[in-house]
Amino acid sequence: MSSPSSSTRSQQKHANNARVTRHALRTANSIPSNCTTSTPDTPSKQLRVRALSLHSPKQPASPRSHPVRPKRKPSHDSDENSNSSDETLNCENYESPAKKMRSVASDCLTRESRSPTKQQQPGLVELVEPVTSLEALANAKAAFKPGSVPGRLVGRDSERSTIVAFLTSHATHGNTKSGSLYVSGVPGTGKSAMIDEIIDDFTEAQKGESRVRHMVGKINCMQFTDPQAIYKKILSEFDIEEGAFDTNVKEPFRTLERAFGHMEGGDKVGSQTPSKKGRTVASASLTSSKKIMHLLVLDEIDQLATRDQSVLYRIFEWAALPGSTLVLIGIANALDLMQRYLPRLVGMTGGPKLLNFNPYGPPEISAIIKSRLLGLQETTFKAIQKYNISKSTSPSTKKQSKPLESAPEQLVSFMQPSAVELCSRKASGTGDLRRALDLVRVSFENLEVETRRKMAKASTPTDQENAPPPPPPSKAQTNQLCSDLNTPLTSLEGIPKVGVAHVLKAANSVSGPGPVQKVKVLATQQKAVLLVLMNVLGSAKGAFVKRTAGKELLLGDLHEAYVSVLKRKQVIKPVTKTEFGDIMGLFESVGLVSLGKAKEERLKKVQLECLPAQVEDGIRDDPVLWGMWKELVASASTLI
Ligand SMILES: Nc1ncnc2c1ncn2[C@@H]1O[C@H](COP(=O)(O)OP(=O)(O)O)[C@@H](O)[C@H]1O
Ligand SMILES: [Mg+2]
Repeated sequence: MSSPSSSTRSQQKHANNARVTRHALRTANSIPSNCTTSTPDTPSKQLRVRALSLHSPKQPASPRSHPVRPKRKPSHDSDENSNSSDETLNCENYESPAKKMRSVASDCLTRESRSPTKQQQPGLVELVEPVTSLEALANAKAAFKPGSVPGRLVGRDSERSTIVAFLTSHATHGNTKSGSLYVSGVPGTGKSAMIDEIIDDFTEAQKGESRVRHMVGKINCMQFTDPQAIYKKILSEFDIEEGAFDTNVKEPFRTLERAFGHMEGGDKVGSQTPSKKGRTVASASLTSSKKIMHLLVLDEIDQLATRDQSVLYRIFEWAALPGSTLVLIGIANALDLMQRYLPRLVGMTGGPKLLNFNPYGPPEISAIIKSRLLGLQETTFKAIQKYNISKSTSPSTKKQSKPLESAPEQLVSFMQPSAVELCSRKASGTGDLRRALDLVRVSFENLEVETRRKMAKASTPTDQENAPPPPPPSKAQTNQLCSDLNTPLTSLEGIPKVGVAHVLKAANSVSGPGPVQKVKVLATQQKAVLLVLMNVLGSAKGAFVKRTAGKELLLGDLHEAYVSVLKRKQVIKPVTKTEFGDIMGLFESVGLVSLGKAKEERLKKVQLECLPAQVEDGIRDDPVLWGMWKELVASASTLI
């Protein structure tokens, strides 16, 4: 069995190291931290890591605390700690995406002070690392990543009560009886996430229960090409060996029948055949007076449909037999799965109860977005406060300082309320929350691209010959520029905010493929042009949307750089100037770059319209280009 606790630990360790590295580099080497969205092994990150080891003393990485969602002890056992035969829980092998993402997302959302692991020594000043706008934006994007569940789920009170009542009436002391529940609803209505959270809560609450032992199995049935494979998977989820009750029994479903206890004599045989971990259900039930209940969640259960529906019927019927220990929750999109596939079960005594998740409407979507943003706001607010206190007071005065203020209850940062409303309305057509979350995330990406560009412009001397005199910045623009992405935040107001324009732009791109997908489908020659563009933009110190000489990048210069790089590398032959122009036109039409207006083609200004990390992700699968990109980053040469 996998160990969720150790994987969470290693994620946290990795996140800590990455943050410390970023911080150390910013302060020691002034290398721009402009790749927070990069995955850990991007060349840009490798480059910065190398710079750290050469120039900067290593800073200790300390653990952080304060996950947004209160941390629960993992509800399933790891290999190291699973040898106790008196475990009350045997939760899933299958680590649900929601659970995995919860730890990642809460990790991303957490931006607390770095208190040393060991107790603070008297006289030592606690190192409190600041939050920058860039990091606040990265956290915002992480909170809206697909599958992330930062914090408790919002709303769905009546569905929650129905499911909790179902579990209570089938799997608690005095109410241990088999049963099944079929949960339906269109995609993105929170079915999987809600069941996951409720099962976690339920098993946690039942931990002290000495009379009932809950075995939990969660399986996503999408993984099976052959529905018959489900039986083996259920056996392994409940840690039961095949043939545990009778070595002559070859079919896995027969062993399951015994395990669920409605076949006579199962316990006796099972006690002589303990499982690999000594936790065979049957043997456990002999050695303990606890009543065993098997809680089985089958997500995407319609994948088990066969011509005669034998698999689905068998599993639901196990849960309908009076003596069985099986409590089943099946989840799928179709409202009419029972009528269509399993008419025998409709109205049958002990047959499944039905629960439908209605599509989300604008008010629910808006409440969920706001709740995530408020979680972000609170974590960021606390981190800012800690930093401000550590910066402004000496250790002695810090002791007497006022208790921390509480974060604003209203949403004052990250997103304008009108932008939240627009996202909710735009996404409410399907009731699929994932679309709304995507819209918010892409809006934050748009905001990040825009803010970086404004900063680059503000710090770049304008080319007097080509550029018209810039208009005076508006108040809003001035505020935004003041929030230098890498300057420590001292208040929530410093965080750039998503507005209606960012959402509108996101709505256009969310309906089509995203930037990574757009890059992925390009031909090698076209990807090579993008690589050189990234290399030229990235070679400027301080920002990626700027070129070396302090001028904006012009199409003619980019072409020169392109020819020179490809000739030097000799991996890919450069295309002609006309073809190069066509490629740039294509990039503009799909929204990967924007080209300014100019009389001559070569004088057009070039800007990247997506994040460099997205281009990196788009070329990662191409070994030739990825190798070339790594070399380019390693040499980090100034090309033009
Ligand atoms: N009520 C809610 N509060 C917060 N997030 C939610 C809520 N409902 C769904 N989500 C999020 O929406 C996404 C899709 O939910 P999911 O459970 O996978 O939907 P389904 O299983 O119905 O297709 C997940 O990231 C989930 O965390
Ligand atoms: Mg689901």
